[in-house]
Amino acid sequence: MDLELKGKSVVVTGGGSNIGRAIVLGFAEEGANITIGDIDEVQANKVVKLALEKGAAGVQLVKTDVTDLNQVKAMFAAAVKKFGTVDNLVNNVGWDQLMYFTQTTPELWQKIIQINYLAVLNCTRVALDLMIPKKRGTIVSISSDASRQGEPREAVYGGVKAAVNGFMKTIARENGRDGIRCNVVCPGVTIPEDDEEVGKTSLWVNRDAMFTPEQLEKVARALPLRKVGRPRDIANAVLFLSSVRAGHITGQTLSVSGGYSMIG
Ligand SMILES: NC(=O)c1ccc[n+]([C@@H]2O[C@H](COP(=O)([O-])OP(=O)(O)OC[C@H]3O[C@@H](n4cnc5c(N)ncnc54)[C@H](O)[C@@H]3O)[C@@H](O)[C@H]2O)c1
Repeated sequence: MDLELKGKSVVVTGGGSNIGRAIVLGFAEEGANITIGDIDEVQANKVVKLALEKGAAGVQLVKTDVTDLNQVKAMFAAAVKKFGTVDNLVNNVGWDQLMYFTQTTPELWQKIIQINYLAVLNCTRVALDLMIPKKRGTIVSISSDASRQGEPREAVYGGVKAAVNGFMKTIARENGRDGIRCNVVCPGVTIPEDDEEVGKTSLWVNRDAMFTPEQLEKVARALPLRKVGRPRDIANAVLFLSSVRAGHITGQTLSVSGGYSMIG
């Protein structure tokens, strides 16, 4: 199936590590032009090199903290300068610290809200200004099954990701008439296969601190498909939703989680 992403200009936030990295490499294999917005220059530059090897038409890293609207504006300006426009946005950046709610502080709540929600507002706002006049574009935001299921130790994160799901539905309704499609992908546990897939700012830099191999086996056994997710699983869904092949799909929230969530 030709996704017709060749030559498209794509912005992927958090494209340096794990899921974002796989999304960048997926778009690269389709021959897209990619702008990566990430705070980790060292790791993201490795992904730039790999993306070119995989067939990207063009790739650039714009060091960006997506919680800062001015930096986000500069990132999109760089994308337009190098690739002429922005056709597709993937809001991938996210972050959490696993703790029971009663142990968390208001400072931690603020940080989780900034990275997981305000960053999505920043990037979506700037992207829409570019997409509306062209009457086309796609936005995919990476949420989490924690927003659909309720996950112990992810109370604030799960609530904020649910806000992303709701926000994206309204954005889909408001902008469908301008040919802009907006969807959400909810990963379940999705782990890197190799240390080279993560940089020092990744949640997975110390994989065993997140999940021991025994815990991962337990997670896998509890899932209908009996396996945890890999970054490429999420990237495949994002590529499809960003493509013309999903041309009649908008406002949807898709779990890619081995059957963890089943919403009907
Ligand atoms: N991996 C999972 O199990 C899982 C499960 C559910 C949802 N998710 C969601 O998937 C997305 C990707 O997760 P991941 O596991 O690949 O994360 P990760 O921690 O491995 O990578 C995140 C990337 O974002 C970058 N980043 C962090 N803060 C940033 C900021 N302020 N500005 C710019 N870049 C920033 C990091 O440098 C890193 O490259 C997130 O939205 C996350 O919430 C992940």
